Amino acid sequence: MPGVVIVGAQWGDEGKGKITDLLAENAEVIVRFQGGNNAGHTIVRDGEEFKFHLIPSGILHSTKTCVIGNGVVVDPRVLLGEIDGLKRAGVSVGNLRLSANAHLIMPYHVLLDQAGETKLGKLSIGTTRRGIGPCYADKALRLGIRVQDLLDEKILRTKIRAALEPKQQALRELSVQRRKLRKEAGEEAKAPAGPAPGAPDPRLDLHTMVEEHVNYGHRLEPHIADTAKLCWDALDADQTVIFEGAQATLLDLDHGTYPFVTSSNPIAGAATVGAGVGPTDITEVWGIAKAYATRVGAGPFPTELEDETGERMVERGHEFGTTTGRRRRCGWMDLIALRYAVRLNRMDSLAITKLDVLSGLGPLRVAVRYRSKEGAVLDSFPYHQSILHSATPEYEELPGFDEDLGECREEKDLPQAARDYLDYISDFVGVPIRLVGVGPDRAQTIRIDA
Ligand code: IMP
Repeated sequence: MPGVVIVGAQWGDEGKGKITDLLAENAEVIVRFQGGNNAGHTIVRDGEEFKFHLIPSGILHSTKTCVIGNGVVVDPRVLLGEIDGLKRAGVSVGNLRLSANAHLIMPYHVLLDQAGETKLGKLSIGTTRRGIGPCYADKALRLGIRVQDLLDEKILRTKIRAALEPKQQALRELSVQRRKLRKEAGEEAKAPAGPAPGAPDPRLDLHTMVEEHVNYGHRLEPHIADTAKLCWDALDADQTVIFEGAQATLLDLDHGTYPFVTSSNPIAGAATVGAGVGPTDITEVWGIAKAYATRVGAGPFPTELEDETGERMVERGHEFGTTTGRRRRCGWMDLIALRYAVRLNRMDSLAITKLDVLSGLGPLRVAVRYRSKEGAVLDSFPYHQSILHSATPEYEELPGFDEDLGECREEKDLPQAARDYLDYISDFVGVPIRLVGVGPDRAQTIRIDA
């Protein structure tokens, strides 16, 4: 009954998709348990690039069952787009299952997310604008629309009407405010086409929305299933189930750098709720971290480099988001934050990705403590947000390496300095590093025996 959770150990984009794809070789079921199409995985296989936002990375293995769990928020249009794209690429999606209990991202969630971003002005969180926060908010308010509702037009209509009612006014006000802000900024000409201020928005027309979603329901019906039971059956039959996290520990709604976080719980514990299994079904937790650190969107990032080295990390690591194309902020590996993630998720193993990016950067630095603005030494991740915002990292400097790592396939192929760098990280956080990425292709991975 092995239940293996894979989580991001930093601020996301650590390369979880690639590692999931590799670990999926020994699994029968791969389940996503939270987040939505704010995530983006790129997997390069035999030179062919695949990008996923919703569908679990394991889909490339035709013999495995891929599950979108109840904890995921699903934009049905995006999901159908991914299904169609995979079919065009000749990848079978007959093994895809969608939880009947997953919540749907509706057009009004996307509009609210976009409008809300403008409204926050300077304090913008920098969301992906995919409607994630408003959808989870409706779920908690019990105003959400679930996948199963797509299969009953009457219920669907009633629920959409109920969900829309309290939002109509807010949506109208936000659209007026947005146009006003843009006008003030002299950007009216760039504003997207939309209804005149105060006029009804056709995207929010009840009849159209119901019709569209009934149609989505017909198309998705073959995939809709009782996915919790599917997981239990697999676990009870001693099959391996992988629970694939999206986003990452420091973006966790409860344990991350709130409010600069996502609206779900990407930590390992949340796999139980988001997939419908028990805590003791989880037997192993993998954390994925880059060999340096990146973050998209706003929020504290103590080791951020706003210099030439940071710029080189962006260039060498192609640090632009899969989902929004935004440039990622880059910085040195933060071992205080990583040790926090290791404990929070109770990780058993680490995968370190993109080690090759550090080649030629000169001596490597890793943050080993923070100093508060009052001068106090902080050896652990501060729970108080204000302290984190003003904390400065203190570094240990380690020898760098100049070799190209792209062809390394075993630990012994790595230059000594790269091996020492990995050992330092592993010793500091107390967890073995069992996989190392040295390039984008799945073959560019080094396995290290525990
Ligand atoms: P949301 O998840 O779209 O609400 O965005 C909230 C915050 O999480 C923003 O700072 C996003 O940039 C960040 N975020 C959401 N998904 C990802 C991801 O997959 N990778 C990295 N950052 C993400």
